[in-house]
Amino acid sequence: MSRLSDANVSIAKEIIGRYPRPKSALIPLLHLAQEQHGWVSNESMSHIAELVGVTPAEVYGTASFYEMFKFHPVGRYCIDVCTNISCQLLGAWELLEHAERRLGVRAGSTTDDGMFTLEDVECIAACTEAPAIEVNYRYRYRVTPDDFDALIDKLTAGRLGDEVPRFGTLARVRQRTTDRWSGAGTTAQAEVDAR
Ligand code: FES
Repeated sequence: MSRLSDANVSIAKEIIGRYPRPKSALIPLLHLAQEQHGWVSNESMSHIAELVGVTPAEVYGTASFYEMFKFHPVGRYCIDVCTNISCQLLGAWELLEHAERRLGVRAGSTTDDGMFTLEDVECIAACTEAPAIEVNYRYRYRVTPDDFDALIDKLTAGRLGDEVPRFGTLARVRQRTTDRWSGAGTTAQAEVDAR
């Protein structure tokens, strides 16, 4: 798995420039790496380390604290089914079993076509809306097996492209260079779409 692309190195340098200390940019750079590859490889962590002047171990130490960063290939859509107590009482186990049957994989696995990774997770802080699931960290509440099937149908058909970001990033952050603000073509603007 490769390092950051040339285009993403340019973006990374602009992101780093927004912070008083380069290593403060670690989290957005990890998101950038995950956007590029779908997961955070050792090579991309080493590259980020070079860019911000820390060791690869420090990059991994930061990244591994956060569940949303993946260190192995995952499907285009990570579907997390909460099976903690509130969700469990309202049918989460049945929902998970249904999801396993529908996708043809056990929890912790990825479908052969690389579309879906199914995960059995602990409380995702949506207990009042149980049973709850996430798809690439976008919530779905009070999910029934029929709701799950409808979700999979839409994702497979590509009908949720505007709602569900690729590769499990927590927020959809678009980074771009624009001369709109500086007139010099060097100012980066982050557009954060927190849907
Ligand atoms: S128990 Fe499922 S969201 Fe809290």
